[in-house]
Amino acid sequence: MSEIMSINDLDLQGKKTLLRVDFNVPLDRGEVRDDTRIRAALPTIRELLSRGARIAVASHLGRPKGKTQDDLKMDPVAKRLSELLGKEVLKLDYSAGDEVAAAVEKMQNGEILLLENLRFEAGEEKNDPQFARLLAAPFELFVNDAFGTAHRAHASTAGVAEYIPAVAGLLMKKEIEELSRCLDDPGRPLTAVLGGAKVSDKINVIKRFLSLADNLLIGGGMANTFLAARGYGLGDSFYEKDLLNQAAELLEASKDSSCRIHLPPDLVVTRELEKGSAWEVMTPEQVDGNWKAVDIGPETARQYGDIVAGSAMLVWNGPLGVFEIPPFDKGTKLVARAAAESSAYSVVGGGDLVAALEALGLAGDISFISTGGGATLEFWEGKELPGIAVLKKK
Ligand code: 3PG
Repeated sequence: MSEIMSINDLDLQGKKTLLRVDFNVPLDRGEVRDDTRIRAALPTIRELLSRGARIAVASHLGRPKGKTQDDLKMDPVAKRLSELLGKEVLKLDYSAGDEVAAAVEKMQNGEILLLENLRFEAGEEKNDPQFARLLAAPFELFVNDAFGTAHRAHASTAGVAEYIPAVAGLLMKKEIEELSRCLDDPGRPLTAVLGGAKVSDKINVIKRFLSLADNLLIGGGMANTFLAARGYGLGDSFYEKDLLNQAAELLEASKDSSCRIHLPPDLVVTRELEKGSAWEVMTPEQVDGNWKAVDIGPETARQYGDIVAGSAMLVWNGPLGVFEIPPFDKGTKLVARAAAESSAYSVVGGGDLVAALEALGLAGDISFISTGGGATLEFWEGKELPGIAVLKKK
């Protein structure tokens, strides 16, 4: 595949630039609760500013479905961006149209402004060509740094590229390079850790890693579906009944593959899924009645930790238990510690898990943390992401 063009390949002086970022960040009472995605775009913003571009930054925030929603306006994001840059960031009340065109016309080289939430416009998610044209109109260049939204074919991620040249920002470039490593040049043994609630969300990525990885470690609600497919009753545990056949097929396929699927030999079970509720450790065959499996057990955490420690490369998406309800976060924490302490080249994606690593103070020990959730999974599946497909090639 020929390499995509990035801002490194262009003269940016005076260029009126539309910079699409993924500032879809969690808010808490009108403040940005986690600014990871904003910080991840700073190298691109600083580079554009120092090389004399005039930039209008655009993002979606939440899912307002084409209507203005006061609690999803971009003002808290503008405030945080301005603090991080140490520079005033003018925030507009629109994402496209006459007001934007007038503001961009007034900009000087090295100035920045932030547009309003793109998803207040119905044309954004529909990738409406008229809206894409309006969005692109004031600009000479489109820079896509929104890796986290690259799996969406929206006006601001794909449609605008019909009207102005489109290149990658530095974050987009880094995400593509880092996430490609396990696909193109995996260190061996390559271990994929996949957690989260549903097999249905990850079926294609499981298939991909079955043909790529040496070990596939399964946890979270997903593990219950695989265990149920093996014939365990699992009491009152959550699992996807309609995925049992597919899970059984994957287990069957792993027999002819050089990749081994590992399922938990023990589980943490509870009767009440509440903070601080009583729990026990059981093997899968012991789980019955109204017991629910909510985390991997200590023996599983030990075995998974050993496999992680012995890996040369590690990719991980999704927590291994009900992480948001302690103490059912323990299995994820133990394996996260093993990942942080190992010498494996580690790549982690998915908001829940990244938040877990941050909370543990382990994020700095992971080789690369992807800003993508769904985008990271689709990239690993091998799908062509619309926000990447439109970028110019060298
Ligand atoms: C994400 O948070 O995964 C991206 O910002 C995409 O958001 P979406 O799932 O609402 O399209």
